[in-house]
Amino acid sequence: MGAVIIGCGKALPDREVANDDLQALVDTNDEWISSRTGIFTRHIAVAESGLTLAAAAAAAALGLDQRDTLKPAAQGWSAQPIDPSSIDLVLFATVTPDVVVPSCAALVKRMLGLDRAVAMDINAACTGFIYGLTVAESMLAASQSAPGASSRTRCRRALVIGCDRLSRVTDWNDRNTCVLFGDGAGAAVVEWSDEKPGIRASYLRNDDDEKNALTCANFIEAPQPFSPVGVDPAACEDASLSGVDALLGIDEAVAAGGMRQVIRMDGRSIFKFASNAMTHAVEEVLERSGLTLDDIDCVIPHQANERIIKFAAKKLGLDLDAFQLSIANTGNTSSASVPMALADAYCTGRVKEGDNVVLVAFGGGLTSGAVLFQV
Ligand code: COA
Repeated sequence: MGAVIIGCGKALPDREVANDDLQALVDTNDEWISSRTGIFTRHIAVAESGLTLAAAAAAAALGLDQRDTLKPAAQGWSAQPIDPSSIDLVLFATVTPDVVVPSCAALVKRMLGLDRAVAMDINAACTGFIYGLTVAESMLAASQSAPGASSRTRCRRALVIGCDRLSRVTDWNDRNTCVLFGDGAGAAVVEWSDEKPGIRASYLRNDDDEKNALTCANFIEAPQPFSPVGVDPAACEDASLSGVDALLGIDEAVAAGGMRQVIRMDGRSIFKFASNAMTHAVEEVLERSGLTLDDIDCVIPHQANERIIKFAAKKLGLDLDAFQLSIANTGNTSSASVPMALADAYCTGRVKEGDNVVLVAFGGGLTSGAVLFQV
């Protein structure tokens, strides 16, 4: 018994931006970007919100007829059409929520008529979908054996979404970062099965990013009138975030004229962290499931940089063919990256009934993690 994936889907914005297009913004070129990252194009949300992308990906995962929602275009696989009112839980992983109250999960619940679901958002950066899937699996498992469990109180089906519009927090003048990112959404439906094993092991980790190698201080601030000496309608200075800036080490960048609310990254140290974290997370889920690399049919990694995937493959001693590569036309889409690649693997028939699959990711936080499941 276990939590089994019964549907998955993805949605990308219409506007595709090629490496050459970025030459109009920064000093870069196609050869540098493609050879260093494996990225050729990425999709940028100009007309779409994160919510419309997420709802389209989720609808595809549920196997819903999408004739009425032609945009954004979505692709999906599902074992059977899934009744929206049978979803008990919606988890929405994102670092770029369109809104904070209500949660994005609550709004997708409204958009798709997931009437009985409880809903919440999760922020674990690019590992968000892995965290979401693990929380969903834990909730499904716990509710089966909870004291007094009944068919009314058991949580049987969860919709886990990963969606990001990194273009909102990208510094389009910084060639070190802007060539890497894209927008998109992916989703999966997991169901508790009394027969199939489904998710066999998961592993979550959070290392302190003490050197602030990957940060984004995306606060939206309302002016507030409370000065240290009392209530003053004219006093709109808010010094409360200076401590946060110091914590994230962004004072100097802002003083030098940079923006406060964009992604800042030390690429080289993230590269090193990422390749080690990926390898370690795969080894952990293998150990926890009692399987070996020989039992694994497909690895679906976070699509941040093809070179990181190659490096991890080499370290694990696995052929690159074992990895799902979807990065070429997406770039790094953060929380959406793993569920979109998962949808690619199902839609192309790359994974089949009985296969053992590992999902693995890393990201800001510094988060990392993996899930090993049987299709
Ligand atoms: N176009 C052209 N040149 C660029 C460039 C661009 N877009 N971005 C950086 N460069 C330059 C640098 O300025 C540097 O020039 P210099 O040697 O004159 O200083 C040179 O290219 C090499 O930079 P370097 O940082 O050594 O490149 P790299 O081989 O490490 O690749 C990354 C850079 C960002 C692609 C790589 O470090 C990486 O992928 N890191 C991980 C990022 C990541 O995955 N983040 C998300 C985690 S969820």
